[in-house]
Amino acid sequence: MLNPLERQALEHPTMAPSRQIPAAAPTVAIVGATGAVGVELLTCLEARGFPVGRLRLLASARSAGRTMSFRGETIAVEELTEASFDGVDLALFSAGSSISKRYAAVAVKAGAVVVDNSSAFRMDPDVPLVVPEVNGATLARHRGIIANPNCVAAIATVALAPLHRAHPIRRLTAATYQAASGAGAAAMEELRLSTAAYLAGEAYAPQVLPHPYAFNLFSHNADMDPATGHNGEELKFVAETRRILDAIQLPIGITCIRVPVLRAHAMALTIEFDEVVTAEEARALLATASGVRLVDDMATNHYPMPSEASGQDDVLVGRIRRDLGDPSGRTLAIFVAGDQLLKGAALNAVQIAEALLKR
Ligand code: A2P
Repeated sequence: MLNPLERQALEHPTMAPSRQIPAAAPTVAIVGATGAVGVELLTCLEARGFPVGRLRLLASARSAGRTMSFRGETIAVEELTEASFDGVDLALFSAGSSISKRYAAVAVKAGAVVVDNSSAFRMDPDVPLVVPEVNGATLARHRGIIANPNCVAAIATVALAPLHRAHPIRRLTAATYQAASGAGAAAMEELRLSTAAYLAGEAYAPQVLPHPYAFNLFSHNADMDPATGHNGEELKFVAETRRILDAIQLPIGITCIRVPVLRAHAMALTIEFDEVVTAEEARALLATASGVRLVDDMATNHYPMPSEASGQDDVLVGRIRRDLGDPSGRTLAIFVAGDQLLKGAALNAVQIAEALLKR
Protein backbone atom coordinates (compact mmCIF):
# COMPACT_ATOMS: atom_id res chain seq x y z
CA MET A 1 0.00 0.00 0.00
CA LEU A 2 1.24 3.51 -0.82
CA ASN A 3 1.94 5.89 2.02
CA PRO A 4 0.35 9.38 1.75
CA LEU A 5 3.52 10.93 0.38
CA GLU A 6 3.99 8.29 -2.28
CA ARG A 7 0.34 8.78 -3.24
CA GLN A 8 0.93 12.54 -3.47
CA ALA A 9 3.92 11.98 -5.75
CA LEU A 10 1.82 9.85 -8.08
CA GLU A 11 -1.29 12.06 -8.05
CA HIS A 12 0.48 15.44 -8.07
CA PRO A 13 3.87 14.92 -9.73
CA THR A 14 4.45 18.69 -9.90
CA MET A 15 3.98 19.30 -6.16
CA ALA A 16 7.10 19.68 -4.05
CA PRO A 17 7.34 16.52 -1.97
CA SER A 18 6.82 17.00 1.76
CA ARG A 19 9.79 16.17 3.90
CA GLN A 20 10.00 12.52 4.95
CA ILE A 21 11.87 10.78 7.74
CA PRO A 22 14.80 8.58 6.69
CA ALA A 23 13.86 5.00 7.49
CA ALA A 24 17.44 3.96 8.22
CA ALA A 25 18.25 4.88 11.80
CA PRO A 26 16.78 8.40 12.05
CA THR A 27 17.75 10.61 14.98
CA VAL A 28 14.62 11.21 17.05
CA ALA A 29 14.15 13.91 19.70
CA ILE A 30 11.39 13.90 22.31
CA VAL A 31 10.66 17.35 23.67
CA GLY A 32 9.00 16.95 27.06
CA ALA A 33 10.41 13.43 27.48
CA THR A 34 9.86 13.44 31.24
CA GLY A 35 6.15 14.31 31.04
CA ALA A 36 3.15 11.99 31.06
CA VAL A 37 2.99 11.87 27.24
CA GLY A 38 6.79 11.96 26.81
CA VAL A 39 7.21 8.73 28.77
CA GLU A 40 4.55 7.08 26.58
CA LEU A 41 6.30 8.31 23.44
CA LEU A 42 9.41 6.38 24.50
CA THR A 43 7.32 3.29 25.22
CA CYS A 44 5.45 3.51 21.88
CA LEU A 45 8.64 4.00 19.83
CA GLU A 46 10.16 0.94 21.49
CA ALA A 47 7.03 -1.24 21.44
CA ARG A 48 6.30 -0.53 17.78
CA GLY A 49 9.88 -1.06 16.68
CA PHE A 50 10.23 2.45 15.26
CA PRO A 51 13.68 2.42 13.58
CA VAL A 52 15.30 4.92 15.99
CA GLY A 53 19.00 5.45 15.37
CA ARG A 54 19.79 7.94 18.11
CA LEU A 55 17.30 9.18 20.71
CA ARG A 56 17.61 12.63 22.29
CA LEU A 57 15.53 13.26 25.41
CA LEU A 58 14.78 16.94 25.98
CA ALA A 59 13.05 18.62 28.92
CA SER A 60 13.51 21.63 31.18
CA ALA A 61 16.71 22.42 33.04
CA ARG A 62 15.05 20.83 36.09
CA SER A 63 15.36 17.37 34.51
CA ALA A 64 18.78 17.72 32.86
CA GLY A 65 20.98 14.77 33.83
CA ARG A 66 18.08 12.55 34.88
CA THR A 67 18.21 9.24 33.02
CA MET A 68 15.53 7.24 31.21
CA SER A 69 15.65 3.78 29.67
CA PHE A 70 15.08 2.99 25.97
CA ARG A 71 15.63 -0.47 24.41
CA GLY A 72 17.71 -1.40 27.47
CA GLU A 73 19.96 1.64 27.04
CA THR A 74 20.21 4.41 29.64
CA ILE A 75 19.87 7.86 28.12
CA ALA A 76 20.45 11.16 29.92
CA VAL A 77 17.85 13.91 29.62
CA GLU A 78 19.22 17.15 28.17
CA GLU A 79 17.99 20.68 28.67
CA LEU A 80 16.05 21.93 25.65
CA THR A 81 17.91 24.74 23.87
CA GLU A 82 17.94 26.26 20.38
CA ALA A 83 20.87 23.96 19.53
CA SER A 84 19.02 20.77 20.53
CA PHE A 85 17.85 19.92 17.00
CA ASP A 86 21.14 19.71 15.10
CA GLY A 87 21.07 16.40 13.22
CA VAL A 88 17.52 15.56 14.36
CA ASP A 89 15.28 13.92 11.70
CA LEU A 90 12.07 13.64 13.77
CA ALA A 91 11.10 15.83 16.73
CA LEU A 92 8.11 14.74 18.80
CA PHE A 93 6.94 17.72 20.87
CA SER A 94 4.92 17.32 24.06
CA ALA A 95 5.90 20.12 26.41
CA GLY A 96 2.97 22.51 26.01
CA SER A 97 2.10 25.05 23.36
CA SER A 98 4.44 27.85 24.44
CA ILE A 99 7.44 25.51 23.99
CA SER A 100 6.09 24.35 20.61
CA LYS A 101 5.55 27.92 19.43
CA ARG A 102 9.11 28.79 20.39
CA TYR A 103 11.00 25.70 19.23
CA ALA A 104 9.04 23.89 16.46
CA ALA A 105 10.26 26.30 13.78
CA VAL A 106 13.82 25.93 15.10
CA ALA A 107 13.54 22.15 14.69
CA VAL A 108 12.12 22.43 11.15
CA LYS A 109 14.89 24.86 10.20
CA ALA A 110 17.44 22.35 11.46
CA GLY A 111 15.95 19.75 9.07
CA ALA A 112 13.54 17.84 11.33
CA VAL A 113 9.94 16.84 10.76
CA VAL A 114 7.94 17.97 13.82
CA VAL A 115 4.93 16.09 15.18
CA ASP A 116 3.45 18.44 17.74
CA ASN A 117 1.19 17.25 20.52
CA SER A 118 0.28 20.75 21.73
CA SER A 119 -2.55 22.99 20.54
CA ALA A 120 -0.08 25.53 19.05
CA PHE A 121 -0.65 24.72 15.35
CA ARG A 122 -3.83 22.64 15.29
CA MET A 123 -5.95 25.27 13.59
CA ASP A 124 -3.19 26.57 11.31
CA PRO A 125 -4.42 25.93 7.74
CA ASP A 126 -0.84 25.18 6.67
CA VAL A 127 -0.45 22.45 9.29
CA PRO A 128 -2.30 19.16 8.82
CA LEU A 129 -4.19 17.96 11.91
CA VAL A 130 -4.00 14.21 11.61
CA VAL A 131 -5.55 11.02 12.92
CA PRO A 132 -4.00 8.50 10.51
CA GLU A 133 -7.03 6.17 10.35
CA VAL A 134 -9.30 9.12 9.60
CA ASN A 135 -7.48 11.67 7.45
CA GLY A 136 -3.98 10.26 6.92
CA ALA A 137 -3.98 11.52 3.32
CA THR A 138 -3.73 15.13 4.57
CA LEU A 139 -0.18 14.33 5.75
CA ALA A 140 0.95 14.67 2.16
CA ARG A 141 0.75 18.46 2.30
CA HIS A 142 2.74 19.06 5.46
CA ARG A 143 5.48 21.69 5.45
CA GLY A 144 7.54 20.38 8.32
CA ILE A 145 5.01 20.49 11.17
CA ILE A 146 2.13 18.06 11.71
CA ALA A 147 -0.33 18.66 14.56
CA ASN A 148 -1.46 15.82 16.79
CA PRO A 149 -5.07 16.48 17.86
CA ASN A 150 -6.56 17.15 21.26
CA CYS A 151 -7.04 13.82 23.02
CA VAL A 152 -10.85 13.75 23.04
CA ALA A 153 -11.02 14.82 19.39
CA ALA A 154 -8.58 12.06 18.38
CA ILE A 155 -10.45 9.35 20.29
CA ALA A 156 -13.91 10.53 19.17
CA THR A 157 -13.01 10.80 15.48
CA VAL A 158 -11.68 7.22 15.38
CA ALA A 159 -15.20 6.13 16.38
CA LEU A 160 -17.09 8.71 14.30
CA ALA A 161 -15.22 8.51 10.98
CA PRO A 162 -16.37 5.01 9.92
CA LEU A 163 -19.98 6.10 10.47
CA HIS A 164 -19.50 9.53 8.84
CA ARG A 165 -17.94 7.95 5.75
CA ALA A 166 -20.97 5.72 5.23
CA HIS A 167 -23.64 8.25 6.26
CA PRO A 168 -22.82 11.96 6.69
CA ILE A 169 -23.27 13.16 10.25
CA ARG A 170 -25.66 16.08 10.48
CA ARG A 171 -25.25 16.94 14.19
CA LEU A 172 -23.22 15.68 17.14
CA THR A 173 -23.76 15.99 20.89
CA ALA A 174 -20.98 14.85 23.21
CA ALA A 175 -20.40 14.50 26.94
CA THR A 176 -16.88 13.57 28.00
CA TYR A 177 -15.52 11.94 31.15
CA GLN A 178 -11.85 12.89 31.10
CA ALA A 179 -8.94 11.35 33.00
CA ALA A 180 -6.20 13.04 35.01
CA SER A 181 -3.48 12.30 32.43
CA GLY A 182 -4.82 15.00 30.11
CA ALA A 183 -3.63 17.54 32.68
CA GLY A 184 -0.16 15.96 32.85
CA ALA A 185 1.89 13.81 35.20
CA ALA A 186 1.38 16.21 38.12
CA ALA A 187 -2.41 15.84 37.89
CA MET A 188 -2.11 12.04 37.89
CA GLU A 189 -0.02 12.29 41.04
CA GLU A 190 -2.61 14.64 42.57
CA LEU A 191 -5.30 12.02 41.95
CA ARG A 192 -3.19 9.33 43.68
CA LEU A 193 -2.22 11.53 46.65
CA SER A 194 -5.65 13.07 47.19
CA THR A 195 -7.31 9.63 47.03
CA ALA A 196 -4.86 8.24 49.61
CA ALA A 197 -5.45 11.28 51.82
CA TYR A 198 -9.23 10.93 51.49
CA LEU A 199 -9.10 7.25 52.47
CA ALA A 200 -6.87 8.08 55.45
CA GLY A 201 -9.35 10.74 56.53
CA GLU A 202 -6.74 13.47 56.01
CA ALA A 203 -7.20 16.90 54.44
CA TYR A 204 -5.64 17.45 51.00
CA ALA A 205 -5.36 20.92 49.45
CA PRO A 206 -5.51 20.74 45.62
CA GLN A 207 -2.20 21.83 44.05
CA VAL A 208 -2.68 21.19 40.32
CA LEU A 209 -6.40 21.07 39.62
CA PRO A 210 -8.81 23.70 40.90
CA HIS A 211 -11.12 21.40 42.91
CA PRO A 212 -10.91 18.34 45.18
CA TYR A 213 -10.27 15.40 42.84
CA ALA A 214 -10.74 12.27 44.97
CA PHE A 215 -14.28 10.86 44.76
CA ASN A 216 -15.40 13.95 42.86
CA LEU A 217 -15.82 15.26 39.32
CA PHE A 218 -15.94 18.77 37.93
CA SER A 219 -16.22 20.82 34.78
CA HIS A 220 -13.00 20.59 32.74
CA ASN A 221 -10.33 22.88 34.15
CA ALA A 222 -9.45 24.59 30.83
CA ASP A 223 -10.04 28.36 30.83
CA MET A 224 -13.62 29.49 30.35
CA ASP A 225 -14.63 31.60 27.35
CA PRO A 226 -17.12 34.11 28.83
CA ALA A 227 -18.58 34.85 25.40
CA THR A 228 -19.80 31.28 24.82
CA GLY A 229 -19.86 29.80 28.35
CA HIS A 230 -17.71 26.97 27.00
CA ASN A 231 -14.28 26.05 28.30
CA GLY A 232 -11.21 25.78 26.11
CA GLU A 233 -11.34 21.99 25.95
CA GLU A 234 -14.89 22.09 24.61
CA LEU A 235 -14.01 24.69 21.98
CA LYS A 236 -10.96 22.64 20.90
CA PHE A 237 -13.15 19.54 20.54
CA VAL A 238 -15.62 21.38 18.31
CA ALA A 239 -13.01 22.99 16.05
CA GLU A 240 -10.72 19.98 15.78
CA THR A 241 -13.43 17.35 15.29
CA ARG A 242 -14.82 19.41 12.42
CA ARG A 243 -11.38 19.76 10.87
CA ILE A 244 -10.41 16.08 11.20
CA LEU A 245 -13.75 14.88 9.80
CA ASP A 246 -13.59 17.56 7.08
CA ALA A 247 -17.04 18.73 8.18
CA ILE A 248 -16.36 22.39 8.87
CA GLN A 249 -20.00 23.39 9.46
CA LEU A 250 -20.94 20.37 11.62
CA PRO A 251 -23.04 21.55 14.61
CA ILE A 252 -21.51 20.11 17.78
CA GLY A 253 -22.78 20.43 21.35
CA ILE A 254 -20.31 19.39 24.07
CA THR A 255 -19.79 19.23 27.83
CA CYS A 256 -16.32 18.20 29.09
CA ILE A 257 -16.00 16.83 32.62
CA ARG A 258 -12.86 15.83 34.54
CA VAL A 259 -13.37 12.52 36.38
CA PRO A 260 -11.14 10.72 38.91
CA VAL A 261 -9.69 8.21 36.43
CA LEU A 262 -5.95 8.02 35.77
CA ARG A 263 -5.40 7.72 32.01
CA ALA A 264 -8.37 6.83 29.79
CA HIS A 265 -11.10 9.16 28.61
CA ALA A 266 -14.70 8.08 28.06
CA MET A 267 -17.43 9.87 26.16
CA ALA A 268 -21.12 9.59 25.30
CA LEU A 269 -21.75 10.57 21.69
CA THR A 270 -25.21 11.25 20.27
CA ILE A 271 -24.98 11.26 16.49
CA GLU A 272 -27.66 12.52 14.15
CA PHE A 273 -27.33 11.44 10.51
CA ASP A 274 -28.88 12.73 7.29
CA GLU A 275 -30.86 9.51 7.04
CA VAL A 276 -32.03 6.59 9.17
CA VAL A 277 -29.08 4.46 10.31
CA THR A 278 -29.78 1.34 12.34
CA ALA A 279 -27.74 0.26 15.35
CA GLU A 280 -27.02 -3.02 13.51
CA GLU A 281 -25.49 -1.21 10.54
CA ALA A 282 -23.42 1.04 12.82
CA ARG A 283 -22.19 -2.00 14.72
CA ALA A 284 -21.18 -3.68 11.45
CA LEU A 285 -19.34 -0.56 10.25
CA LEU A 286 -17.49 -0.19 13.55
CA ALA A 287 -16.66 -3.91 13.82
CA THR A 288 -14.27 -3.69 10.88
CA ALA A 289 -13.01 -0.13 11.43
CA SER A 290 -9.30 0.42 11.90
CA GLY A 291 -8.35 1.41 15.45
CA VAL A 292 -11.76 0.41 16.88
CA ARG A 293 -12.65 -2.53 19.12
CA LEU A 294 -16.31 -3.27 19.75
CA VAL A 295 -17.20 -3.83 23.41
CA ASP A 296 -20.95 -4.07 23.21
CA ASP A 297 -22.41 -6.96 25.16
CA MET A 298 -25.95 -6.30 26.38
CA ALA A 299 -26.23 -9.76 27.96
CA THR A 300 -23.43 -9.07 30.45
CA ASN A 301 -23.79 -5.27 30.58
CA HIS A 302 -20.21 -5.08 29.31
CA TYR A 303 -19.40 -1.82 27.58
CA PRO A 304 -16.34 0.44 27.15
CA MET A 305 -14.66 1.33 30.44
CA PRO A 306 -11.57 3.42 31.16
CA SER A 307 -10.10 0.53 33.16
CA GLU A 308 -10.19 -1.68 30.04
CA ALA A 309 -9.14 1.07 27.62
CA SER A 310 -6.04 1.93 29.69
CA GLY A 311 -2.87 0.72 28.00
CA GLN A 312 -4.77 -0.30 24.84
CA ASP A 313 -4.12 1.07 21.36
CA ASP A 314 -7.70 0.57 20.18
CA VAL A 315 -10.60 2.87 20.95
CA LEU A 316 -13.38 0.86 22.61
CA VAL A 317 -16.89 1.47 21.26
CA GLY A 318 -20.20 0.12 22.55
CA ARG A 319 -23.70 0.90 23.81
CA ILE A 320 -24.62 1.33 20.15
CA ARG A 321 -28.33 2.05 20.16
CA ARG A 322 -31.04 4.14 18.63
CA ASP A 323 -31.42 7.45 20.48
CA LEU A 324 -34.91 7.55 21.94
CA GLY A 325 -34.76 11.35 21.92
CA ASP A 326 -35.17 11.37 18.14
CA PRO A 327 -38.34 9.58 16.98
CA SER A 328 -37.23 9.85 13.31
CA GLY A 329 -34.62 7.07 13.77
CA ARG A 330 -31.85 9.24 12.33
CA THR A 331 -29.96 9.47 15.64
CA LEU A 332 -27.74 6.90 17.34
CA ALA A 333 -26.08 6.95 20.75
CA ILE A 334 -22.72 5.30 21.42
CA PHE A 335 -20.26 5.15 24.32
CA VAL A 336 -16.53 5.29 23.74
CA ALA A 337 -13.38 4.87 25.85
CA GLY A 338 -9.79 5.40 24.73
CA ASP A 339 -6.39 5.70 26.36
CA GLN A 340 -5.66 9.42 26.60
CA LEU A 341 -1.90 8.91 26.61
CA LEU A 342 -1.92 6.46 23.66
CA LYS A 343 -4.51 7.14 20.93
CA GLY A 344 -5.17 10.51 22.55
CA ALA A 345 -1.50 11.50 22.33
CA ALA A 346 1.67 9.37 22.02
CA LEU A 347 0.42 6.49 19.87
CA ASN A 348 -1.23 8.82 17.36
CA ALA A 349 2.00 10.87 17.13
CA VAL A 350 4.11 7.76 16.50
CA GLN A 351 1.59 6.49 13.90
CA ILE A 352 1.96 9.84 12.11
CA ALA A 353 5.76 9.47 12.17
CA GLU A 354 5.47 5.91 10.83
CA ALA A 355 3.45 7.18 7.86
CA LEU A 356 6.23 9.67 7.09
CA LEU A 357 9.05 7.14 7.03
CA LYS A 358 10.77 7.07 3.65
CA ARG A 359 10.31 3.53 2.37
P1 A2P B 1 10.26 18.80 33.17
O1 A2P B 1 9.90 17.42 33.68
O2 A2P B 1 11.73 19.04 33.16
O3 A2P B 1 9.47 19.89 33.83
P2 A2P B 1 3.40 17.04 31.70
O4 A2P B 1 2.49 17.29 30.53
O5 A2P B 1 3.30 15.65 32.22
O6 A2P B 1 3.22 18.09 32.75
O7 A2P B 1 4.90 17.20 31.14
C1 A2P B 1 5.40 18.39 30.58
C2 A2P B 1 6.75 18.13 29.91
O8 A2P B 1 7.21 19.37 29.36
C3 A2P B 1 7.84 17.67 30.87
O9 A2P B 1 8.72 16.79 30.22
C4 A2P B 1 8.53 18.96 31.20
O10 A2P B 1 9.87 18.81 31.61
C5 A2P B 1 8.51 19.64 29.86
N1 A2P B 1 8.74 21.08 30.00
C6 A2P B 1 8.04 21.95 30.76
N2 A2P B 1 8.59 23.19 30.69
C7 A2P B 1 9.66 23.08 29.86
C8 A2P B 1 10.65 23.99 29.36
N3 A2P B 1 10.64 25.26 29.70
N4 A2P B 1 11.61 23.52 28.52
C9 A2P B 1 11.61 22.22 28.17
N5 A2P B 1 10.71 21.30 28.60
C10 A2P B 1 9.75 21.73 29.43
